[in-house]
Amino acid sequence: MTAGTADGDRREPDGTEQGREPDGTERGWRAAAREALYGPEGFYRRTEGPGPAGHFRTSVHASPLFARAVARLLCRVDEALGRPPVLHFVDMAAGRGELVTGVLAALPEETAARTRAYAVELADRPAGLDPRVEWRAEPPRRITGLLFANEWLDNVPLEVAETDSAGTPRRVLVRADGTERLGEPVGGEEAAWLARWWPLGGEPGLRAEIGLDRDRAWASAVAAVERGLAVAVDYGHLARARPPFGTLTGFRDGRETLPVPDGSCDITAHVAVDACAATAGGPPGARLLTQREALRALGVTGARPPLALASSDPAGYVRALAGAGEAAELTAEGGLGDFWWLVQVVGPAEGVADVFGDRPGRSTGAPGGSGSGQG
Ligand SMILES: C[S@@+](CC[C@H](N)C(=O)[O-])C[C@H]1O[C@@H](n2cnc3c(N)ncnc32)[C@H](O)[C@@H]1O
Repeated sequence: MTAGTADGDRREPDGTEQGREPDGTERGWRAAAREALYGPEGFYRRTEGPGPAGHFRTSVHASPLFARAVARLLCRVDEALGRPPVLHFVDMAAGRGELVTGVLAALPEETAARTRAYAVELADRPAGLDPRVEWRAEPPRRITGLLFANEWLDNVPLEVAETDSAGTPRRVLVRADGTERLGEPVGGEEAAWLARWWPLGGEPGLRAEIGLDRDRAWASAVAAVERGLAVAVDYGHLARARPPFGTLTGFRDGRETLPVPDGSCDITAHVAVDACAATAGGPPGARLLTQREALRALGVTGARPPLALASSDPAGYVRALAGAGEAAELTAEGGLGDFWWLVQVVGPAEGVADVFGDRPGRSTGAPGGSGSGQG
């Protein structure tokens, strides 16, 4: 629960705050987070300091094995598409371009020569980025290849709903210091989204993030692909196991913190991945895998090197051991391995469906899940 929501003393029986009306400093979380993250002084727009990587760590920062696995995926897509003369790789929400840089470095020379690489990012192009990478604020259209979005969807600003004392879902309003109060009842398409994807029971204090904008953002990114694959990787949940109090949280200086929309911290929410999948087309084109499954299918395992290597090639053994440790982190239970890979096959590209080694729509073995992407 975020700052201010537990302060029952200032609430009217319906959950609204005593004696105060909304004013210019109180907004829904969507507007507040949009400005705090992407406004002129926003968390992601600042160019000084270590950048977002100083506040949190994604799979991209955890190990170069991740970019190598994405390069392998791009090669499989390339193969399935019949090695087109121009192959697109789009690093969606590219941060400082770390993934696209790693992917280009890992591609075989012949594939790299045909690859047009894009970094799609709201922040400015970092100095020194590989000149082969085109930096832009929107994805290109008519992509033939792979659009890959690592930890983008959790950062799409969303409204938050909370049930009042009568069990009615209301929009949560927030100030720049993070204090909250309940606003008007949620209505229209937002209420319809909640009913379909995240129904809140009648108890007071239940919370949900309304994923409408995120679903649309993902559908729009998928629509930019003409032939190939769109993949979103993120922490998330399915309809049968939504977190009862929502997941909105902050990250600052490497630690989880209260989400305060003043530009000082990241503001993130776990992704209702099944809703995104359905909005972008649903099965059979959409499927869900855990990161553990996806990376194993792409050859990343946490297997330790054989002990015999320690005597025949001590340096190689140490390198292999470090690699095994990084692979273990990327695929860990209770950690990065539990992230969802939402995979959308686009266009007349039969073989693309097989790039993870089997057909879409099979049971993924994901926690309680099928591979269909439907909650
Ligand atoms: C958590 S960071 C992930 C960065 C990188 N993909 C990684 O895995 O390290 C999220 C990034 O998404 C970017 N972002 C958010 N919304 C975006 C949008 N609509 N278009 C482009 N980039 C966006 C932010 O600026 C931020 O750099």
